[in-house]
Amino acid sequence: MKPFTKLTWLLAVAAQSCAQLQYTSTASSAVAQAAATALTQSPTSQVAGKTFDRFVQIWLENTDYSLAVGNANLKYLASQGILLTNYYAITHPSQPNYVAAVGASTNGITDDSFQRISSGVKTIVDLLEAKGISWGVYQEDMPYSGFEGNYVNQKTKANDYVRKHNPLMSYDSVTSDVNRLAKCKNFTMFNRDLNDNKLPQWMFITPNMTNDGHDTSVTTAGAWARNWLTPLLSDARFNTDRTLIILTFDEGTTLGTNHIYAALLGNAIPATRVGTTDGTKYNHYSLLKTVESNWGLGNLGTNDAGAAAFF
Ligand SMILES: *[C@@H]1O[C@H](CO)[C@@H](O)[C@H](O)[C@H]1NC(C)=O
Ligand SMILES: *[C@@H]1O[C@H](CO)[C@@H](O)[C@H](O)[C@H]1NC(C)=O
Repeated sequence: MKPFTKLTWLLAVAAQSCAQLQYTSTASSAVAQAAATALTQSPTSQVAGKTFDRFVQIWLENTDYSLAVGNANLKYLASQGILLTNYYAITHPSQPNYVAAVGASTNGITDDSFQRISSGVKTIVDLLEAKGISWGVYQEDMPYSGFEGNYVNQKTKANDYVRKHNPLMSYDSVTSDVNRLAKCKNFTMFNRDLNDNKLPQWMFITPNMTNDGHDTSVTTAGAWARNWLTPLLSDARFNTDRTLIILTFDEGTTLGTNHIYAALLGNAIPATRVGTTDGTKYNHYSLLKTVESNWGLGNLGTNDAGAAAFF
């Protein structure tokens, strides 16, 4: 390489690895500065799918199926849609489940630590973007769009937003692209996008460590889910005529089958199926398969290919 070419190359490599870690500082000045300047994007699209035009996933934490179906609020929500009685998480602990739900593989991750999956590894985002389908991740209490670290409540110092519950953040193919980081947003942005009628067609939603049950219990998670979802279910800006929502958990707590609660909601569900159950065996890879079949996206060539779709 000529010296000049080599320098350009080195700068490009440095810029890329910076992008992958540029937004990790939790110092309040760094957070304030980044919050003021970080790119935030809310593109929309109207690509018609076979059975739905919008797909929303909401993940709660660490609860076995038997405990979740016994919770009054989760039971109520399931009665508004379809209870999937035979749905399984992939593994333990949390992080590989989130990673698998967007990348069709745990990518060898077996823990909750800071992970980076190499930039050649694709996710559902690559398939969605290829068809012009808008997407967004909404994470409660993430301090700004594209933040790549962990964040605590600034008053109580309690864990609040965690990277391990943000499914796309471990993928360099996302973090090396500022336009992709700009679509990983917080709940302030969710509310803004809802008000502006700018919610995307594919969404992944994680409440904070209190509301998702991680640092509390299924009682808190169930109450949060019902309170948060009830107004949205009757809001046409969220629950459009052809919206499919899944409320589920990342994993169970007892080692063994990893059987978890999952309920389908939203106007895409035919009236005749509201209040019913579906005993088909599904798992988190079904989240990918359902989306891929609906929009004819092809697949990521791993565990998504043979998974069962909800419709
Ligand atoms: C949410 O993200 C936006 C966009 O980056 C940022 O301006 C805002 O301060 C964040 N809200 C909270 C409560 O952290
Ligand atoms: C999580 O969000 C709720 C509001 O939705 C808030 O009351 C609670 O304090 C937050 N949890 C933490 C640890 O900050």
